[in-house]
Amino acid sequence: MSCNDDRVIIFDTTLRDGEQSPGASMTRDEKLRIAKQLEKLRVDVIEAGFAIASPGDFESVKTIADTIKDSTVCSLSRALDADIDRAGEALRGANSGRIHTFIATSPIHMQYKLQMEPDQVVENAVRAVKRARNLIDDVEFSLEDASRSELDFMCRIIEQVIDAGARTINIPDTVGYAVPQEYGNTIAQLIQRIPNADKAIFSVHCHNDLGLAVANSLAAVSAGARQVECTINGLGERAGNASLEEIVMALRTRKDVLGLETRIDTTQIVPASRLVSSVTGFPVQPNKAIVGANAFAHESGIHQDGVLKHRETYEIMTAEDVGWNTNRMVLGKLSGRNAFRTRMEELGTTFASDAELNAAFSRFKELADKKSEIFDDDLVALVSDARASAGHEKYKLSSLNVTSQTGETPVASLVVSVDGEEHSVESSGSGPVDAAFKALEQVANSGANLQLYSVNAITSGTDSQGEVTVRLEKAGRIVNGLGADTDIIIASAKAYIHALNMLDANIQKAHPQV
Ligand code: KIV
Ligand code: ZN
Repeated sequence: MSCNDDRVIIFDTTLRDGEQSPGASMTRDEKLRIAKQLEKLRVDVIEAGFAIASPGDFESVKTIADTIKDSTVCSLSRALDADIDRAGEALRGANSGRIHTFIATSPIHMQYKLQMEPDQVVENAVRAVKRARNLIDDVEFSLEDASRSELDFMCRIIEQVIDAGARTINIPDTVGYAVPQEYGNTIAQLIQRIPNADKAIFSVHCHNDLGLAVANSLAAVSAGARQVECTINGLGERAGNASLEEIVMALRTRKDVLGLETRIDTTQIVPASRLVSSVTGFPVQPNKAIVGANAFAHESGIHQDGVLKHRETYEIMTAEDVGWNTNRMVLGKLSGRNAFRTRMEELGTTFASDAELNAAFSRFKELADKKSEIFDDDLVALVSDARASAGHEKYKLSSLNVTSQTGETPVASLVVSVDGEEHSVESSGSGPVDAAFKALEQVANSGANLQLYSVNAITSGTDSQGEVTVRLEKAGRIVNGLGADTDIIIASAKAYIHALNMLDANIQKAHPQV
């Protein structure tokens, strides 16, 4: 991929590095839905997964590569023959494909993790890039832990991998250790010192351990990098990756200073954020820049007065620019199956069969009976909830009854089917949700630890659906269960059951060490 000097390539790694967040595993269909939204957002490169990590990862990369036409689809691979071949195989059907291969270059990683001498690392890197170039034209090479690597060694390895055919050179801040000025200087030095630097695009990939991922990425593009690797909502390992929406909007809003642009359709940012949050069950904090519920809310009277008199007094960009307010009231009780299917397709969901469409449509009708106005976000949650309860279903909620009144201990009575056999259970708890979860545990006896319980109102108003995330941990495995309903106790029970089913199906994937 080539680009103008002032254009920054946006490389989205939500589906690969984002998925490495504990509990953020996604199924192939969920990844495909997100990939379609990323294509609408006009990201240049979608890192769809790590093809060799598991058969599921391979299928996801392949399906996305076979489907997406307007973004380059990329697979990660270590600098190992088998990894590269598997990535090449997954990308065979891509309109535009990229193999992204990497090896660690810091003294600490080379000595303790790889147990290799620097010369061996260079040799492996060059061999990997050549092998990848035999399969595909577009090859990216990453120096893992670059921000703790020696400059001279980086110059040496980069010069050789460019000669071997790498078109993009990525300088990751793998452990989130860099600070902006130092990181920007490193990029500038590399570009200046490497004789064939003009044959490749320099890229950055920053983790947020010190909360500096976006600042470091911007320092790097100011110093000459022209690709930024980032994720929707900043999802990613540990404290996450640089957040796509913040980088894109900083470049756009401060073009006067940075002088750079992207090809992103910014009005698709909020829909992408909502989709990733609902699929992964990772809520977006209300004060998160750009995509948080309060990002454009002015509470103080002085601010409100100023904005009413002249918007720019307190607003540096508009909510509409990033896709807020596209959440129109779209469908209602009288909407037909066709209108429903068309809107779902616009939102990136296609139905594999008439049966799947009919099931989703009847859930929509049930919701429309309870809630007069159905918004886009309701539809996204409806599908996530339906998909959460599809597939592997050892546990199924048949009915739930909760009594809760002032001064009394709440009691939940549930009927749960386990492998088709119904069990009635009852439990008290400190609140109705606690009582429901305790009752569910009487049946499942999972031994899992509840790590997170969160409820999000999907739209405004007291008739809003509540979207619940339940994160369970068992023997080091973490799963996120999702449930949505206008009754938040039912949504909570559904989310707990979804998490139990995921634990039972051993859904979390194994990733090789990255
Ligand atoms: O953080 C990192 O170094 C990575 C590489 C594999 C690019 O994710
Ligand atoms: Zn990373």
